[in-house]
Amino acid sequence: MINSVDFTNKDQPYKTVFFETFGCQMNKLDAELSLGLLQEEGYRIVDKVDEADVILLNTCSVRQHAEDKVYSHLGALRTLKKRHPEVIVGVLGCMAQKDGEAIFKRMPHVDLVCGTRMFSRLPEMLLKIRNHGSHVLAVDEDQIVNVKRAVTYRPNYYQAFVTVMRGCDNYCSYCIVPYVRGREISRTISDIKEEVQSLVSNGCKEVTLLGQNINSYGKNLGGNITLGDLLSELNDVDGLDRIRFVTSHPADMSHDIIRTISRLGKVCEYLHMPAQSGSDEVLKRMRRGYKAGYYRDLISYARELIPRLTVASDFIVGFPGETDEDFQQTVRLMEDIRFQNCFIFKYSPRTGTKAADLADDVPDEIKRARNMKLLELQKRISLEENKKMMGKEVQVLVEGASKSDPNRLSGRTRQNHIVVFNGSQDLVGKLVDVTINEVTDLTLFGKIFK
Ligand code: SAH
Ligand code: SF4
Ligand code: F3S
Repeated sequence: MINSVDFTNKDQPYKTVFFETFGCQMNKLDAELSLGLLQEEGYRIVDKVDEADVILLNTCSVRQHAEDKVYSHLGALRTLKKRHPEVIVGVLGCMAQKDGEAIFKRMPHVDLVCGTRMFSRLPEMLLKIRNHGSHVLAVDEDQIVNVKRAVTYRPNYYQAFVTVMRGCDNYCSYCIVPYVRGREISRTISDIKEEVQSLVSNGCKEVTLLGQNINSYGKNLGGNITLGDLLSELNDVDGLDRIRFVTSHPADMSHDIIRTISRLGKVCEYLHMPAQSGSDEVLKRMRRGYKAGYYRDLISYARELIPRLTVASDFIVGFPGETDEDFQQTVRLMEDIRFQNCFIFKYSPRTGTKAADLADDVPDEIKRARNMKLLELQKRISLEENKKMMGKEVQVLVEGASKSDPNRLSGRTRQNHIVVFNGSQDLVGKLVDVTINEVTDLTLFGKIFK
């Protein structure tokens, strides 16, 4: 896609970069990798748009709302670009992959459109724009992403996200991700372990393994390698305290993986395993590959083996043809399972997906009402569950100052509860034991006892 240009001139005038990321953890990690690359090339990261020589938006396409947000940000940059035409404006990530050339048409002040598999070539693309003043479109689909972890920019040293696979082969009928992220490709266990070891030798305590459909990790590696094998290997890494992994797909979550998790001390007792709906009819049209009963059984099995397990889910309301009865089944599933946390989304048709052929026939006010109802239900359940934590002693990895009260510290339990408590800044990055003495639906509050 990129023309052959002499990129040897490293004497670049562009030195500051503003970077904003939309979308999921994958995208956030791609942002970290991109920023790491740019820092290695001498760029300084700034947090104000008007201090930047290069403005990059790393985008998401999962719902229309996510795209609208990016287009409105881009629109707002038009005046800045008029005043400072030398500033480079770039669109990266999933929306760049999906909309490609059309972004230049709609937003002619954009200089760079760089898809999900091309960000490792960002430095040379920026150079090309500077040297030639031309637009760059880089959305090749057959590129394999390979960015050295060594250059990663990370917000803190004690936690890290690690990509274990890219892409998704599931093709749930509503979802754009397989189209913008491509086919599933797993990294080898040895590559991942090496990366985790190097992170740990730099002070990392907790890794979160990332994959859109992490339970099918290993499928393309041959030799029947599974997520369980990967977790077992990483559990042996000295100095590492916690392992998390997202996102689990119920249809690919085997009993074997659950058994493995239950016996590995470092793997946290937390699953993010989206149910999406409680109605078999809707699940079928979503092409999720399981029924609600299967989901219930899977959670029961997991809770039996992993007693302190918490579970989080995503739900889509207002999927084509979702009746009141379908919705009630979702409500019942939520009431029965009692998730720790849920993300609720209103269905948003995505062009090119299978569900886009179905009429988007649930009116927006009903989608909104169902969304509200699930949010309220989850809020009540979260509060009730959190109240059960009163008086309990929990292990917390201290993440930094609390957002709501900078004089206090905030961190997470192994089960992913947020805990706020008094303590000195030198505890950041350390594991502490906290006794819970107050709760809300979102937060536990407590006192360090050790
Ligand atoms: N790979 C993850 C996350 C995919 S996107 C998984 O499989 O769980 C995150 C969430 O966005 C999905 O779980 C789903 O609930 C929601 N989502 C995806 N496509 C959507 C759409 N077209 N409309 C509304 N919500 C959607
Ligand atoms: Fe989308 Fe389904 Fe893949 Fe998740 S598993 S990324 S919802 S297609
Ligand atoms: Fe993630 Fe959004 Fe892309 S959810 S994979 S950033 S479409």
